[in-house]
This record gives sequence, structure tokens and C-alpha cells, in this order.
Amino acid sequence: MRTLIAGNWKMNGSRAMLAELDRIAEAASAYSDVDVAIAPPFTLLGEAQPHAGRVWIGGQDCHRAAQGAHTGCISAGMLVEMGARFVICGHSERRAEFGETDPLIRAKAEAAQAAGLIAIVCIGEDEHERDEGRAVEVVACELDGSVPPASTPENLVVSYEPAWAIGTGRIPTFDQICEIHSMIRAKLIQLFGEAGVRIRILYGGSVNAGNAASILACPHVNGALIGGASLTADQFVPIVEIAANVSQ
Ligand code: PGA
Repeated sequence: MRTLIAGNWKMNGSRAMLAELDRIAEAASAYSDVDVAIAPPFTLLGEAQPHAGRVWIGGQDCHRAAQGAHTGCISAGMLVEMGARFVICGHSERRAEFGETDPLIRAKAEAAQAAGLIAIVCIGEDEHERDEGRAVEVVACELDGSVPPASTPENLVVSYEPAWAIGTGRIPTFDQICEIHSMIRAKLIQLFGEAGVRIRILYGGSVNAGNAASILACPHVNGALIGGASLTADQFVPIVEIAANVSQ
């Protein structure tokens, strides 16, 4: 399975940051065994495309509807028109800040897939749930509720992102990541049969060049979703290099 290293710029970035994308694209062309993706803010999507080379460009969110009276929202089809290959659905910041629920996230992922995009569906427990020993149960429940039942390995990526590890510099132990990723793999096989073996499962939360090798070595970790360390080529490119070495 090809490793996917995806960056999420969140609400960061101006036109000047496209220079970082140029350097990321240059590195991506040198490591063609790894899939590389960047989700810039919506406002940069169209302009990012000519800088992207073989880097996939994608959205950070989309609406569940194809069009209509939804002020401030962006549809999956609009992302496609801007050259997007994927969209992130149900990031924990969307769940926490905008009250997004599993059924809404599933509907968004379905809309994305119907428009021809890869849906990167995010699931993960918060700190309280981890402390109560409910991480496996919570992640399993989010997977059941937010992954579209008609998904394929070509249009679905699942990303395990414990909310307490996002932007904090704290990461789960190797064993904790293995436990959750093995459970996700087993559930994907239960849901999709043989195809479940081929659906990529990313880890997200404080990934950087210092910890990427050990995280990517965990069984059933097929890549990473990266926030802070995707904002500069200096931090992001070494992670792509590490992924290229791991996938050899
Ligand atoms: P971080 O963000 O790498 O800054 O922790 C990860 C994410 O939000 O996916």
C-alpha cells in the first residue's frame, strides 16, 4: 500500500506560502513512491494548483449538499472545479468548534465521494475519553457512524487523530497507536471485506520529523495527517523523505 503524507494548513497561509508548496512539490517529485497531499485554505486552492506538481491539493471541509442556499459554505463539486483530489471530513476541530456529528460527517464524505473526491474521514477520542479508558470504544463508534458504507479503497482514507495530541506536542505511545490502528483495520475488514485491507489508515497529531519514523513503523499506519509541521517545506519535506524510506 502506498504511504500517504498529507498536510493540513488549517486557517493559515497567504499567497506567499505558495513558495513552500513549490518546495514540497519538488521533493514529492523526488519521492514518487509516496503520495503527498496538501489542504490549503479554500482561498488558495485555485492558485495552489499550478504550484502543486504531483502533490494532491484538497479541501479541509465541504458541505453535504451539492449546491443551494448555504451561506459561507463550499460544495465538493466546487473543490473539484478548483483541482482538488480529496477533502478532509470531520476533523476534530470541526467536531469541537462547529458541533459536527458522525451522521453529518458521513453525509459530507458521501457528497465528496459522489463528486469524485477521496474523503479523508477523521476519528479520534478526546483526553477525557482516553483517561476513562474508552478510546477504543469511542473511535470504533465514530468509525461506524461517519464512514460511508459504499466506500472503496480508492475513495476513502481514515485518519486516527486523538484530539489531545493535536497541536500539543504529545503523542500516544507506539502500543496505543497499534491498538487503535489494529482495531480500525479489523473493523474496515468487517465492513468492506477484502477491500478493507487496502483502505489507508493515517495517524494524525503532533507528527514531526523527529517522531515520524517510529509512528510510520506501527502496523496498519499507512501515512500521516500533519498540521503544524506541514506549514513549511523545511519541516514537511523530511517527513516525506522518512516515509519514502519506511515504504521501501
Ligand atoms: P498537528 O495537527 O500536526 O498540528 O498536531 C494534526 C491535525 O490536526 O491533523
